[in-house]
Amino acid sequence: MNHIMDRRIRAAVTTEAETFVPTELQEIEINLLLEGLYQMYGYDFRGYVRASLSRRILNRMKAERLPSITALLEKVLHDRAFLERLLNDLSIRMTEMFRDPSFFAAFRSQVVPLLRELPEIRIWHAGCATGEEAYSMAIVMLEEGLADKTTIYATDMNEKALSAAKNGAFPLKKMQQYTKNYLNAGGSKAFSEYYTTDHQYAYFHPVMDERLIFAQHNLVTDSSFNEFHVILCRNVLIYFDNDLQKKVHSLIHDSLADGGLIGLGSKESILFMPKGVQYEEFNPQERIYRRGQSSTALPR
Ligand SMILES: C[S@@+](CC[C@H](N)C(=O)[O-])C[C@H]1O[C@@H](n2cnc3c(N)ncnc32)[C@H](O)[C@@H]1O
Repeated sequence: MNHIMDRRIRAAVTTEAETFVPTELQEIEINLLLEGLYQMYGYDFRGYVRASLSRRILNRMKAERLPSITALLEKVLHDRAFLERLLNDLSIRMTEMFRDPSFFAAFRSQVVPLLRELPEIRIWHAGCATGEEAYSMAIVMLEEGLADKTTIYATDMNEKALSAAKNGAFPLKKMQQYTKNYLNAGGSKAFSEYYTTDHQYAYFHPVMDERLIFAQHNLVTDSSFNEFHVILCRNVLIYFDNDLQKKVHSLIHDSLADGGLIGLGSKESILFMPKGVQYEEFNPQERIYRRGQSSTALPR
C-alpha cells in the first residue's frame, strides 16, 4: 500500500526542469511561509528566485502528504526536525571538485602568482555546500607550495552540508569525473594520492589541517567577518533576486581586500551591480573580477 502511495507521490513531484506556476492563493501561502521561517528561525528566503523555491516547497508538501502550504507552515513552526528537512530542500547543494576546470586552471596560472607575493593568504568560499570546491582549492594551494601561509574559510548556511564537508568523504563513484576535472584544471599528480577509499567513499586526507575551516554563515542575514584576498562565491547568487544579489555583493565588497579577487559562477557577473564600477575584469571568461583601488593589498 505504502509503495503505491510513494509511487503516486513521486509521480506528482515536479522536477527542476518543469515550470511550476503557483496559484494566487499558493503565492499568498508561500509569502506567509517565508515570513514564518524568517520570524521564527531567522532563515530568510524572501529574496530568493521564486520559481525554483516554489517548486521545492510544493514538492516537500507532497512528500509529507500535507494538504496545503499553510499546513506545511503549521508543521514547520512546531517541528524542528521538519525544519531541517525543508531547509535541505531549499538549499541547492549541487557541486563538484574542480567544477569548471578552466576556472581552476586560470586560478593557478593567473591568480596564484599574485598570491605568492603576500606574507599570508586568506580565501573565503561563500556557499561552499559539501566542501568539494574548498578541498579543490586546498589541493591547488598545496601543490603551489602556498598551503603553509594560506587559510581557507569555507562557509554555508546549511549545517547538514557543512558536516558532510568536515568529513571530507565523497562518493567513490564520482572520483573518475573529479580526476578528469583535476587534470583539466592543471593538476599533474595522481589524484588518488589525495584520498583513501572503501567500497563507497573516497576519504580525503586533511590537505591543510586546521587551515581549512568550515563554519556556518548566512550571506543574507550575517555580516562580514574578515578581510580576504580571494572570495569564491560561485553558483550561489543565481538563486537570489536582484535586490538580494545587490545586498550580498555589498557584503562581498566589504569583505574583499583592495586589489583582491572575486570568482563567480559561469552565469554570474559583478559588473551590473551598484559597486560593479569598483571592479575590473581580471578574467571575464572565467568570471574572475578584481577589486580596484589606488592603494592595493595585492601587487599589480
Ligand atoms: C549550488 S551550491 C554551490 C556550491 C559551490 N560554490 C559550487 O559552485 O560548486 C549553492 C550553495 O549555496 C548555499 N546557500 C544558499 N543560500 C545561502 C545563504 N543565504 N548563505 C550561505 N549559503 C547559502 C546553499 O546551501 C548551497 O550549499
